[in-house]
Amino acid sequence: MANPYTFIRNCWYVAGLSKEFKAEKLTGHKIANRPMVIWRTKEGKVVAFDNRCAHKRFPLSEGRLMDDGSLECAYHGLRYNDAGRCIAIPSHPDGKIPPQAKLNPFPIMEQNGLIWVWPGDPAKSNLCKPPLVPEIDDDEWETIDSGPMEVPANYLLLIENLLDITHFYPLHDGNIGDIENSRIPIEYEEGEIDGNKFIKTIRQVQNYKQPPYLVDWFVYEEADRNHTHCMMSPGITRVVMRNAPPGELGTDMERGYVLMHTHTPVDENNHVWHWIVNCKKDHMSGGDPNMSAAKRVAVTFPKVVDEDRWALKLQQQMLEIPDGEYSELFLKPDKALRRARQIFLQLIREEQTESKHLQAAE
Ligand code: FES
Ligand SMILES: [Fe+2]
Repeated sequence: MANPYTFIRNCWYVAGLSKEFKAEKLTGHKIANRPMVIWRTKEGKVVAFDNRCAHKRFPLSEGRLMDDGSLECAYHGLRYNDAGRCIAIPSHPDGKIPPQAKLNPFPIMEQNGLIWVWPGDPAKSNLCKPPLVPEIDDDEWETIDSGPMEVPANYLLLIENLLDITHFYPLHDGNIGDIENSRIPIEYEEGEIDGNKFIKTIRQVQNYKQPPYLVDWFVYEEADRNHTHCMMSPGITRVVMRNAPPGELGTDMERGYVLMHTHTPVDENNHVWHWIVNCKKDHMSGGDPNMSAAKRVAVTFPKVVDEDRWALKLQQQMLEIPDGEYSELFLKPDKALRRARQIFLQLIREEQTESKHLQAAE
């Protein structure tokens, strides 16, 4: 059986939030094992290229941007324009530039306050679109993000974690979870939007006694609650939490968040995770009525994230040991996690088949 814990290349991934890409500042990344230099030009356009200088692989993100907008490599000074073409070689006084002196570009786009990049075959980048996350650049919502967090684990482990909230007990017992939470029945929905297969879990419950952090963030001790987790693509999972006093869901009393998790593979064993919380601007928290709900989540949610990072890191260490006699147990609530794995396996197999065809044709 193919291994789902690798990564998919033909996919849009989040390189960061728009605000992390200031004009004329070089940034170095590794996404799906591709080294990338990404920057925003003076004119505001974001561009991405192979981070290896065409000359001797020196990382271009260590270079500098010149007054004319070109990028100068810090090693021997080759200069590239924002189309990736070499325009100057200091050691060639005759000005001759070989045609191979150019950088491979990556498809990149800015949408809803996020920078999305495609590390796979550029010709396939129009097969799907980056999922829409409108709350991030909507004035009605207050948005706060974690910044990039490196996690020493395959990114599918994070997706599985997000689709499975039965781990709220015991991993998050006493903050966002308890045993009752882990027993809420799960409904499922799946389909495809803009070329991205999605899988969603829905948990609805009435007259529910909220765990402590939920009261702290969203005021109500007892609530009707609708909680969904959706892997929109291998690059992003969207969580929507709606709470209201019993019978009041859908009214002005409703509180909650839209929480985006972006998971970008660095390589097979590491990923970068951003969480981005969005709450309605005028919603104040229960724990501190002078603090907005979004700010209050941002203050306390890192404890929950630390618990997940701890689990993912330890799972990864076990994943690296050959199975031998071991086989994983699947429980009823693992259905969404299994489906996410199947989606990964299908995409990975498609890429492997394509690369075999390419090799055969060469
Ligand atoms: S390695 Fe970049 S100029 Fe030589
Ligand atoms: Fe968790």
